[in-house]
Amino acid sequence: MSQHTVQKRLTAPDIRARKNMAPIVSLTSYHAHTAAIADKYVDFLLVGDSLGMVMHGFETTLPVPLELMIMHGRAVTRGARHALVVVDMPFGSYEESPAQAFRNAAKVMKETECGAIKIEGGLRMAETIKFLSERGIPVMAHIGLTPQSINVFGGFKTQGRERAQWAAIEADAVAVTEAGAFAVVLEAVAEPLAAKITKMIDIPTIGIGASASCDGQILVMEDMLGLSPRVPKFVKEFGEVGKAIEKAIASYADDVRTRAFPLPENTYDVKD
Ligand code: KIV
Repeated sequence: MSQHTVQKRLTAPDIRARKNMAPIVSLTSYHAHTAAIADKYVDFLLVGDSLGMVMHGFETTLPVPLELMIMHGRAVTRGARHALVVVDMPFGSYEESPAQAFRNAAKVMKETECGAIKIEGGLRMAETIKFLSERGIPVMAHIGLTPQSINVFGGFKTQGRERAQWAAIEADAVAVTEAGAFAVVLEAVAEPLAAKITKMIDIPTIGIGASASCDGQILVMEDMLGLSPRVPKFVKEFGEVGKAIEKAIASYADDVRTRAFPLPENTYDVKD
């Protein structure tokens, strides 16, 4: 009988159990092929609604429809075998009521086979987080800078720069923890506040432009690869993929124009 190792996919409780343990590694992913590559190195992949800006050229994440999240979510669950796949709930698909959130989150989970969903908002979403978690839907929360509220914030601004803002953000972190979220993304939260929240709550904090002391980190994959035309200040580019793509395309165009288009010898030999 042949023997092969079946690699178990990580679950929301596995991520939850990583509080105060080895840092959690995560990235966004929107496609099967990048998911397959990243899968070897990350604990979870987030199908973020940032795909609206990164892949589809929208100015904000607000226009992203649920169906688009489902389509990209399916691609990522097909590509990744080991990482937990978390799918973002887009703007307008969950804020109205816990019932609306359950209906749409259940659709996302059924159709993508992801292991969890993410929603933006702290205290104001606590009732929804509790409702979903108690009904079989693991929820990753997202507080600090929540891009779906960009029109309320008036821009992509760091949160907690002024100490007067701290209490509200701390209350958000406590509320999502008590409501049953298995982890919480802290986006663009001032470093000392992110470090304080990480010590304060007993679920993992996942930082993006927050603090190195968070329990894990996430970046938009295209940003860290050097593929995005503009990146937030806090992003370290680990590659120059944009430049590599341009160089390859320029060289292809050159080959075509000079009729040097290379085909391996005998590719299309005609037999008499
Ligand atoms: O949509 C997204 O990519 C996100 C991450 C930036 C956390 O929410």
